[in-house]
Amino acid sequence: AKVAVLASGRGSNLAALLEARARGELPVEFVLVGSDKAGAGALRLAEAANVPTLALDPRSYPDRRAFDLDLFRRIAASGADWLVLAGFMRILDGEALKPWVGRIINIHPSLLPKYRGLHTHRRALEAGDAEHGASVHFVTAELDGGPVIAQACLAIEAGDDEERLAQRLLPLEHRLLPAVLNLLAAGRLQWDGAPRFDGQPLS
Ligand code: GRF
Repeated sequence: AKVAVLASGRGSNLAALLEARARGELPVEFVLVGSDKAGAGALRLAEAANVPTLALDPRSYPDRRAFDLDLFRRIAASGADWLVLAGFMRILDGEALKPWVGRIINIHPSLLPKYRGLHTHRRALEAGDAEHGASVHFVTAELDGGPVIAQACLAIEAGDDEERLAQRLLPLEHRLLPAVLNLLAAGRLQWDGAPRFDGQPLS
């Protein structure tokens, strides 16, 4: 399976994918790493792993949809079968997204459907939640609203603040995302308008 990844920042989730592949634990080919930030650490990681990179500057486009359409055109041209959003901080235009629904997954640092959007760790702390976590879900036009595939969770501890909680969650994210990508590559997750796992409806 050919996989493209989009990231906007340091790319620790991308690093986890590349490391899993290097250990022989993720039988996929990374064909492209794209970003909306030319300085993203994720692009440096991709270069170091000899994965083709693409940085598109949103300011070079007349509007959001034009950017997204060009981005998806480039992703399609890379031959990618799957697209992974790993710390990608843009909301994708529903129209541009449509042909890819069912083939895009995202990792989001909350126990969806709780805390869609930003500042998830802080919101969990402020709510006094006993536990927090991360979700890998299919991407649809609804922000962080697509069907959840898998989650990892951890207990919130007395000493947690936003930074410590985020740091304690990352290692779980780094195991969760490669595990889900393995399921996709093995053909165990399908999408026929709704997700199926081993042929059974997922949600
Ligand atoms: C991670 O918490 C991830 O869940 C969210 O963005 C954060 C940074 O990801 N989507 P990364 O270190 O850039 O992979």
